[in-house]
Amino acid sequence: MEALITVLPGDGIGPEVASAGVKALQRIAEVYGHTFEFSDQLIGGAALDAVSDPFPPSTAASCKESDAILLGAVGGPKWSDPNAPVRPEQGLLALRAALEVFANIRPVQIFDELADASPIKADRLQGVDMIVVRELTGGIYFGKKTRDAESASDLCIYHRYEVERIVRVAARLARARCGELCSVDKANVLESSRFWRDITITTIANEFPTIKLEHMLVDAAAMHLINQPAAFDVIVTENMFGDILTDEASMLAGSLGMLPSASLGDTARGLYEPIHGSAPDIAGKGIANPCGMIASAALLLRHSLGLQEEATALEQAIHQAIANGVRTADIAEKNAPVVSTTEMADAIIQRLH
Ligand code: IPM
Ligand code: MN
Repeated sequence: MEALITVLPGDGIGPEVASAGVKALQRIAEVYGHTFEFSDQLIGGAALDAVSDPFPPSTAASCKESDAILLGAVGGPKWSDPNAPVRPEQGLLALRAALEVFANIRPVQIFDELADASPIKADRLQGVDMIVVRELTGGIYFGKKTRDAESASDLCIYHRYEVERIVRVAARLARARCGELCSVDKANVLESSRFWRDITITTIANEFPTIKLEHMLVDAAAMHLINQPAAFDVIVTENMFGDILTDEASMLAGSLGMLPSASLGDTARGLYEPIHGSAPDIAGKGIANPCGMIASAALLLRHSLGLQEEATALEQAIHQAIANGVRTADIAEKNAPVVSTTEMADAIIQRLH
């Protein structure tokens, strides 16, 4: 098949991991006889520096013409002056909104071989396999903001259609798995959460009568993620809770660098990015873990291009490299040998035949 993919390297370690992701996709194209065309575009701080706009119109146009978008990371200390009129992160939020990718799918699967890399005891990690479905284009991230000398506010607003559509995405995933869905909210305090809970209950009752729905308060969910992570299957939650809980969940996998994400809307076009940030402390050193990015490329193959076999082969190649002991610094044991970003990517790519 032929596909057009926009690549948004962004800031910090973004460009390093993005080129690993592109390399993996090029290898897949070679092995399976596809033609992928890549268009590199600006986003975030890199775009602010070049054209004073964190999401330039040229980037938007390229993304909208593409079958899929692969993104590294945005942000960094260079652009984090609290009084700056625009920040790199606004570019990422504008991109998500422009593409209407409201459903952020964050699978948390762990490799047994990395149990020692996790700060959580190995026996708790047995059987961990969950998907967090994070609402991505609503809530407090996008509500009206105010600021004066004495106060500031961020509005957390959800509309009925936004809750219904994210619950449907999560319920479909749950139906294809164990049939259990856990909706995370803060309904004991927040009106937006009570609204979320009511709509979740009616949507599931009316459209997914076989799904077993459970509700959990976000503070309890944060605790259970550490205490009993294997008990979760599909979690659905609003934008900010999902952001926070998935950073927490990444510790189950051993490193924030391991986890991928797919952001989807109503069409096949999707945005794929590792869940980690731009990691300015290690940027440019060539030591970042590309696994989350390469796993995101696998999700791109599966969800936007419909290439199931290729996606699975790439995921297996990641697992094989890990199983054979190839480790970037973030997942290596103390004093064990480590590889660079490109060496890790090459170790994965070599395993594709
Ligand atoms: C993420 C990131 C972003 C978010 C930031 C960079 C705006 O943390 O993708 O999880 O909060 O959504
Ligand atoms: Mn985050």
